[in-house]
Amino acid sequence: MSKIKKIKNYWELGYQIADIVEHTLTLPEPKLILPTGSTPLSLYKELVNRQLDWSSVTTYNLDEYVDNTIQDQSYRYFMVENLFKHINMDEDNIYFPGDTAVWPQMDYGIGVDLCLLGIGGNGHIAFNEPGSSFQSETRIVDLTEETIKDNSRFFPTIDDVPTQAVTMGLKPILSSKKIIIMANGKHKKDILEQAMYGDITEDIPASILQTHTNMEAFYCD
Ligand code: PGA
Repeated sequence: MSKIKKIKNYWELGYQIADIVEHTLTLPEPKLILPTGSTPLSLYKELVNRQLDWSSVTTYNLDEYVDNTIQDQSYRYFMVENLFKHINMDEDNIYFPGDTAVWPQMDYGIGVDLCLLGIGGNGHIAFNEPGSSFQSETRIVDLTEETIKDNSRFFPTIDDVPTQAVTMGLKPILSSKKIIIMANGKHKKDILEQAMYGDITEDIPASILQTHTNMEAFYCD
């Protein structure tokens, strides 16, 4: 039975998940799946502060927009600004879906030690929107109206929000050895509870996480 860990505030959320990342970084050649969005910002700040050794780490980001004309809203740019440029990552070890060479590896299991996830208001993880198959592989998807609206806060106008993305599928996400899902804010409480305690249904993609044997959910409001 999954359980949501209630954290007292947003900075503490980042701190506690940073402890888990720090532990993962002690493994030989650690592999991490990383999210973008507003939720992981306190985590990335804390990780930067800790000045950890990332030299043997490989990271795979969950998603990237397709045909994005606003480059500083690309997820690669977000990661460089908020994490990669502050740590000693080897650039060759940074992967985004859409880097064609790495798709097959993502789909057939890359032995990821830790996968970090946010949750969308509609229960999506990465850009696996409601209705995505639990067996889905890495692929190009159309974004839902709700996601386009949610993400429009980062763009000059809603018309600038890309309508497609490349997303890691639910199947490769689920193949990670450990998964952490995090949510910040009351507006995410209901959907996180539905995902963790409700029916396992493709209508709420995050609900498949209940079947993972090493998964934790963190929430603060
Ligand atoms: P957020 O996005 O962290 O900006 O709330 C999470 C998500 O949509 O996956």
